[in-house]
Amino acid sequence: MKMLVTGGAGFIGSHVAEKLLAAGHKAIVFDNLSTGSEKNINSASEFIKGDVSISSDVKNIFSSFDIDMVFHLAAQIDVRISTEEPERDAQTNIVGTINILNEMKKNKTKKIVFSSTGGALYGDVNSPAEENHEKNPKAPYGISKLASEYYIRFFSDSFSVDYTILRYANVYGPRQSIKGEAGVVAIFADNMKHNRQSVLYGFGEMYRDYVFVSDVAEANLISVSLGSKETYNVGTGKRTSVKDIFNLLKRSFPKYSAEPILKESRTGEVMNSVVSPEKISKDYNISFTPIEDGIGKTAEYFKERE
Ligand SMILES: NC(=O)c1ccc[n+]([C@@H]2O[C@H](COP(=O)([O-])OP(=O)(O)OC[C@H]3O[C@@H](n4cnc5c(N)ncnc54)[C@H](O)[C@@H]3O)[C@@H](O)[C@H]2O)c1
Repeated sequence: MKMLVTGGAGFIGSHVAEKLLAAGHKAIVFDNLSTGSEKNINSASEFIKGDVSISSDVKNIFSSFDIDMVFHLAAQIDVRISTEEPERDAQTNIVGTINILNEMKKNKTKKIVFSSTGGALYGDVNSPAEENHEKNPKAPYGISKLASEYYIRFFSDSFSVDYTILRYANVYGPRQSIKGEAGVVAIFADNMKHNRQSVLYGFGEMYRDYVFVSDVAEANLISVSLGSKETYNVGTGKRTSVKDIFNLLKRSFPKYSAEPILKESRTGEVMNSVVSPEKISKDYNISFTPIEDGIGKTAEYFKERE
């Protein structure tokens, strides 16, 4: 099938495009390269540069290709930018999603698989949050993702656009940007490669649910045939501290000797975030890469990278 991957030049989107290609689909990557890179785009896919928040760009892509399904990953993902410039965040994340949905409605495109977030919707939790856990977004980023989910359900109810919403935990793996505020695995790996010190906020005691990017791409691929009108968490249900991530990564960099800098958590930072994988494990029969393996693969990628 012909698959549109918005944000396909980014970290997760590039893995989604590759999985779709490997499964025999055609992948059209649509990206404005604001945080993504052409280097991430698999040469077997078709790349169109454009902006989801510009309706004429979105219209052009739908009129140029007979698209069967959309994997919508293009987004403004920086929580701090969303707080400082909520209108910019809403323009990309909410208006961008509406532009896609409008074209899907017009062109009778079958389905959208939407990249949402678990952590930013559920907030601080003591045990793995299930999909029906209370939504409590604290920043415009989470608000814009939750609003997009509601727009998707509205278009589904009113205009028969099928969907699967995937709420990711903390995704890590090869190609993650070291500039991203959430990408501690990438940041630490790059620091270890260059023998620089790393800062561990929350004195290293902040806990996250780290999910390997290949598993996230697999969840997108399975959504081609399953998950109609469903919402799933994509995470492991296991909490790992920042300190444990640092120590696990260190195993792959045996010569690294710089001591970590322990600092207080930053304002508004969630201390505990973990999602329940129960629903997706059952419906998709998916299993998640153990953190030791995923961290090892990520370290190898950063070692080889220029
Ligand atoms: N990384 C995580 O841990 C995580 C967690 C939860 C949800 N998500 C979601 O997954 C998706 C992908 O995130 P990522 O980590 O790969 O980030 P990323 O920044 O690597 O990817 C986003 C891509 O979207 C593109 N983009 C941004 N604005 C655009 C616009 N207006 N028009 C067209 N393209 C645009 C960027 O150039 C980039 O290639 C996002 O929707 C994000 O909200 C990520």
